[in-house]
Amino acid sequence: MSVVALEWRSDHLAILDQRRLPGSVVWLNARSVEDVAAAISDMAVRGAPAIGLAAAYGLALAALRGDSLSDAADRLAATRPTAVNLKWALDRVVSQALSEGFEAVLAAAKQIEDEDREANRAIGRHGAELVPHGARILTICNTGSLATGGHGTALGIIRSAYEQGKVRKVYACETRPRLQGARLTAWELMQDGIPFSLIADGAAGSLMARNIDFVVVGADRIAANGDTANKLGTYSLAVLARHHGIPFVVAAPSSTLDPSMPDGSGIPIEERDPREITEIEGVSVAPSGCPAYNPAFDVTPGSLITAIVTETEVHHPPYTFADV
Ligand code: MRU
Repeated sequence: MSVVALEWRSDHLAILDQRRLPGSVVWLNARSVEDVAAAISDMAVRGAPAIGLAAAYGLALAALRGDSLSDAADRLAATRPTAVNLKWALDRVVSQALSEGFEAVLAAAKQIEDEDREANRAIGRHGAELVPHGARILTICNTGSLATGGHGTALGIIRSAYEQGKVRKVYACETRPRLQGARLTAWELMQDGIPFSLIADGAAGSLMARNIDFVVVGADRIAANGDTANKLGTYSLAVLARHHGIPFVVAAPSSTLDPSMPDGSGIPIEERDPREITEIEGVSVAPSGCPAYNPAFDVTPGSLITAIVTETEVHHPPYTFADV
């Protein structure tokens, strides 16, 4: 059975603490909006769809305690700025819950989780069709069960293609500085028995010159023209893929589309604590007082993206996403 990022347990939200993986499997019990907001900001739960789900269940906690839903939604929306799924999930719960009562809000949150799991399966099916037989696939960050309601987006495509016997090997970028590739994607791939090697981020270029047939990544926000915000380093991979003539595919549910942004220039890019760069596990690796710049995401122009796979279809350039 594949891992889950979170689980509603009668009166609280259990969150698998991804900061402790793979060394320890520790569940946090979130009992208030503040608990959920802290878990999202500190990245105990992370990945665009998963933070949307956590926020949706955060509203259920607010309803359970009789707190204001709109205050709760404002607090949760402020935790991380780049992934649009967060705001999408909050808006969706507020607009679809039949009342502000606990049962109604919880039902709306659960529906989002069920739909996300289904969406990932569909993304896996559509995306696997693009994967060539015997593919050596490069990916970045973690886009698997830990980042979603289950199965995963980019990792979901890898899983589905592997089930079809198409995957020769996966190369997972370690994904500095938070090491989602090393700690989380490697953990998920090992549990599935999918052959892979972890690589230092800087190895991607030379590997693409020889040994990569397909690149697939997730997304945190996709503008109307296909410009895509995703984990820092994605843009470099897209430029390298174009140089080497390798298909570069983005996978995401429709909840990651943001047609209100005409292009990627308006996407807010989260800047995180510089100590994520200057320290490793709390130990300084740079001179004391060293300045550091730590954007968590970058934007890949839609013109570099071979295809964008959502649960409904495979989109090809030029991209023109519109409100549905
Ligand atoms: O900072 P993170 O770990 O939340 O960043 C996650 C990513 O960039 C993922 O690629 C993206 O959210 C898609 S997850 C299916």
